[in-house]
Amino acid sequence: MSFKELKNNIFYLGSQDPDRKLFDQLIPLPDGTSYNVYLIKGSEKIALVDTVYPAKINELTSKLKESNMKIDYIISNHAEQDHSGAIPKVLELYPDARVVTNAKCKALIKDMLLVEEDKFIEIKDGETLSLGDKTVKFIMAPWVHWPDTMFSYVIEDKILFTGDFLGSHIAGDDLFVVDEQKIYTGAKRYYAEIMMPFRNHIKKHLEKISMLDVDMIAPSHGPVYQNPKFILDAYKDWSSDNVKNEVLIAYVSMYESTRKMVDYLANKLSQKGVTVKAYDLIETDIGEVAMGLVDPATVVLASPMVLAGLHPNVAYAAYLVNALKPKFKFVSVIGSYGWGGNMTEQLKTMMNAVKPEFIDPVLVKGYPVEEDFRLLDKLAENIYEKHQALADTTLK
Ligand code: FEO
Repeated sequence: MSFKELKNNIFYLGSQDPDRKLFDQLIPLPDGTSYNVYLIKGSEKIALVDTVYPAKINELTSKLKESNMKIDYIISNHAEQDHSGAIPKVLELYPDARVVTNAKCKALIKDMLLVEEDKFIEIKDGETLSLGDKTVKFIMAPWVHWPDTMFSYVIEDKILFTGDFLGSHIAGDDLFVVDEQKIYTGAKRYYAEIMMPFRNHIKKHLEKISMLDVDMIAPSHGPVYQNPKFILDAYKDWSSDNVKNEVLIAYVSMYESTRKMVDYLANKLSQKGVTVKAYDLIETDIGEVAMGLVDPATVVLASPMVLAGLHPNVAYAAYLVNALKPKFKFVSVIGSYGWGGNMTEQLKTMMNAVKPEFIDPVLVKGYPVEEDFRLLDKLAENIYEKHQALADTTLK
């Protein structure tokens, strides 16, 4: 076969999508993405692991025809349609093939793709599928990031197919990771956008993986890891309870008052040795902000008052913080207003899922003056002291 080989008759039949700009009509894709499909050729049976996004169906069918092989099983690790979208087409090409998956994934595929019940083989955690000289073991891994997610592990070759888990939205010609630093950034962004709300599930799944003898991790987006330790260590760090001596400031400024406050606070924090990452929400894509939320101990939102509340872009950022559930401990709000409103109470309501400790806000009428800068000094000192108090426990 002309396809790239992971090892020992396990091939890559996926599609690259370098021009795709948005995932789920929500997540910016600066590096495009890929929909990874793997073909496992056993001595008796042949299985596909996942399929492709519907727009890439023709690419997959061409590759399957070129392979000149009969597919016996389609292992579906996850029902989202960037991986399951071509299942009906593959079943049309191979009417005797069966979709091998768990009950939850089966139900979703039936609902979304109208695949008939008799096309499935339902498996449970720990069960195996023999392909002759290769055995696939199924490991349930719910909630990374849907309830149906599972891993498939080829015992003889020590390859773990992890679905979305441990992946990255990166398109490219390299089957394997070449530049770990580049992939680290892409994988961190992907973790932040998709996996971070499921941190506690992630910890459990990492433990399960640590019990396996894994030579290679093949996710359903981005390149394959020949050095699994690299991505497993990164996930251990991101999903741990440890926070960094770092403040994320996400801001909008209309007439420079709020920006002046952001610059002043950032400078004061830096002088105290606190790392500051500031994001202008008008210019920064939301994936960058999500990635910035992985590590810091504190989040500061900075906004001008708009219609008695947060600027809508800052309100959107607050919504995302609450939805993505990063592990930060403290939050504050700073900003400028003309006549009135209550950004602090609005923010408290919007942080109902993450419940950070609120540090006194600094809200300024008009352009900041001397007494306002003293309040920002106090806020910087408060943040610094809160971080120091974590130094013996979770501050790393
Ligand atoms: Fe890549 Fe949850 O789909």
